[in-house]
Amino acid sequence: MKKEVIFIGSDHAGFRLKEKIKAFLGKSGYRAEDLGVDDDKKYHDYPKTAIKVAKKVAKAKGKGILVCGTGLGEAIVANKVRGIRATNCFNEYTALKSREHNDSNLLCLGARILKENEAKKITKIWLETNFSKEERHRRRVKQIKEMEKNMCR
Ligand code: RB5
Repeated sequence: MKKEVIFIGSDHAGFRLKEKIKAFLGKSGYRAEDLGVDDDKKYHDYPKTAIKVAKKVAKAKGKGILVCGTGLGEAIVANKVRGIRATNCFNEYTALKSREHNDSNLLCLGARILKENEAKKITKIWLETNFSKEERHRRRVKQIKEMEKNMCR
């Protein structure tokens, strides 16, 4: 069976955790497509990787994971891209609800906040949870999509 592709990226602050999550994705049966960065030896500005990953996810109508120090900056950037619902998840509950209620397609993790095993648990729940079938959640995501039609490109 063809493996689901997960686009992944980080800045310098998220590099180490990104590598761990990438390995975790491989072990969990996914194919990680790594869009950088490749080291933490110098500053790599988070907007650059975040926009790359977000555009790939939007084009593929797939899923992605971004890791920076807090998960915040990359979420701000990714949410500029039409079709992206990036959520900064900091525990299992927010991971679950970001999928069930918001149909999140881009998970943002904070490497300076989360321990490795917490980040893995969040990732697992986020990947394994489906968007709710409930009408109210579908209506709300549809409202977001309507708003996106007026976004600047
Ligand atoms: C880098 O120092 C840090 O600002 C970045 O990784 C991220 O946390 C931004 O939101």
